[in-house]
Amino acid sequence: MIISLLNQKGGVGKTTLAVSLAGQLTQLGSRVLLIDADPQGSALDWAAAREGEPLFPVVGLPRPTVHKEIQGFVGDYDHIVIDGAPRVTDLARSVIMASDVVVIPVQPSPYDIWSAEEVVGLVNEGAIYKEKLKSCFVINRKIVNTAIGRDVKEALANYDLSILDVTVGQRVVFAEAVASGLVVSEVAPKSNAATEVKAFANELLKF
Ligand SMILES: Nc1ncnc2c1ncn2[C@@H]1O[C@H](COP(=O)(O)OP(=O)(O)O)[C@@H](O)[C@H]1O
Ligand SMILES: [Mg+2]
Repeated sequence: MIISLLNQKGGVGKTTLAVSLAGQLTQLGSRVLLIDADPQGSALDWAAAREGEPLFPVVGLPRPTVHKEIQGFVGDYDHIVIDGAPRVTDLARSVIMASDVVVIPVQPSPYDIWSAEEVVGLVNEGAIYKEKLKSCFVINRKIVNTAIGRDVKEALANYDLSILDVTVGQRVVFAEAVASGLVVSEVAPKSNAATEVKAFANELLKF
């Protein structure tokens, strides 16, 4: 399966969730490739920060030809996760055309909910050319017991796109893991973050 994390807005958790998902799918025994399609190369930076054995390979393809270049990799992997680029529309279009499932991370803030309009538009446009394209929102950095955390699903429902049941909380361990090129299950296997990542991967595998 080719799963991309995409949102035109920066800082919503694309790289965090892409790395976490690739790690979890690897730990489930699959051959996984992570494609960094963001010219900023944050996923490549994550891989470079790691000491010792890589968990999975990371390649940089920050070009609007990802949908073509990915063909050279599909035969070698069970799953390919794409960390998408913010802002640049032709890069996003290429990532969408490369994907089986587009996952749109959103933070529970009104600003994030409004700005999702852009990426939802691109996904809907992609679905015209690619009938089997699936897409969904995942709520990231949810803060427990806040009104906005509760209302966000309702607000997103206006977009007519699925919302994953799993939500990923605001957990400092994500940032701590990234700093050393690790995933949360390596740093804190029993943490809420690790549990959420497992549930995230499982829900996507069934999606
Ligand atoms: N669930 C989370 N809990 C805590 N921090 C998070 C979480 N998701 C992302 N972050 C932090 O938010 C910042 C932006 O996340 P990142 O994955 O780089 O977003 P994007 O790739 O969409 O720009 C990073 O500093 C990251 O560590
Ligand atoms: Mg990123």
